[in-house]
Amino acid sequence: MALPTAVKIVEVGPRDGLQNEKEFVPTATKIELINRLSAAGFPNIEAASFVSPKWVPQMADGAEVMAGIERRSGAIYSVLTPNMRGFEGALAARADEIVIFGAASEAFSQKNINCSIAESIERFAPVAQAAKEHGVRIRGSVSCALGCPYQGEVPVASVVDVVERFAALGCDEIDIADTIGVGTAKRVHEVFEAVTKVFPRERLSGHFHDTYGQALANIYAALEEGIAIFHASVAGLGGCPYAKGATGNVATEDVLYLMNGLGIQTGVDLNQVVAAGDFISNAIGRANVSRAGKALLAKARSEAACS
Ligand code: HMG
Ligand code: MG
Repeated sequence: MALPTAVKIVEVGPRDGLQNEKEFVPTATKIELINRLSAAGFPNIEAASFVSPKWVPQMADGAEVMAGIERRSGAIYSVLTPNMRGFEGALAARADEIVIFGAASEAFSQKNINCSIAESIERFAPVAQAAKEHGVRIRGSVSCALGCPYQGEVPVASVVDVVERFAALGCDEIDIADTIGVGTAKRVHEVFEAVTKVFPRERLSGHFHDTYGQALANIYAALEEGIAIFHASVAGLGGCPYAKGATGNVATEDVLYLMNGLGIQTGVDLNQVVAAGDFISNAIGRANVSRAGKALLAKARSEAACS
């Protein structure tokens, strides 16, 4: 299959990237990060979570973050909502899209949201219905689609099953998430070949963590399957609180560098993302793990020193 000519990059750093930070990141820093990412041109930013602050304290200021950001016209600002309480918060915060998040692995579902896969779908049903009634977009995220930290191998049929359940709830978009970054390209092909039989290809996304350094190869494999939505985290921020040892999402700068090289349109300005990655890494005192980001920063510094 020919590669897509344009892709949508969903910037998930402010949520997936920051949620695991031990030290509380000040609300003003989160807002500035999102504003910089909006200015860089992202069509979709995952900005916050409306989850239990006991479970994920870092995301406790979601309402303040959503109230403080400058929204770029036409851009989608998404938030995570595990239940009706989360949905009410999302609605009050004028989120454009809510994310319901389930897993293809029973063990991970229990650890992450404290219920079985079937129970999670029951909890999501009223959330999805309410979102439809209020004209809010719905995205479903399928964790552990390429492997689970507790159960190991996850059958492709389990991924297809959750995708079908999310489709029945009316999801506009569904994420195939490699929560712990264990997947490799062959499996990516197999999973997307299977899920595209039950949900439209153009509304499926790849959400790859980079723990084993496979994320860019996995994105390329997904592009070969005609997938045109990818999630990425500026400076490679992140890690999952319920997946020990998992690192962040693939770094956005690296994905943009790949897409630019392939001549695939993203509408996002790489240099502004590199600057945003530098800003947040310095602000939270964390190493920038984007290879392209670090290379471009070093190049800019050496050019400035020579001029
Ligand atoms: P629970 O403890 O089973 O249920 O949590 P509960 O209803 O008994 O609630 C417990 C407490 O949380 C109660 O407070 C509730 O009021 C409160 P208490 O009475 O003890 O004081 N509460 C809430 N507070 C604020 N907002 C809410 C909310 N709901 C309940 N919406 C629950 C169940 C799902 C709420 C909990 O397990 C939870 O919040 N989990 C968060 C999970 C999470 O955010 N995980 C990380 C994001 S998912 C991810 O990163 C994967 C992804 O990136 C894809 C991938 O890579 O795989 C998307
Ligand atoms: Mg994730």
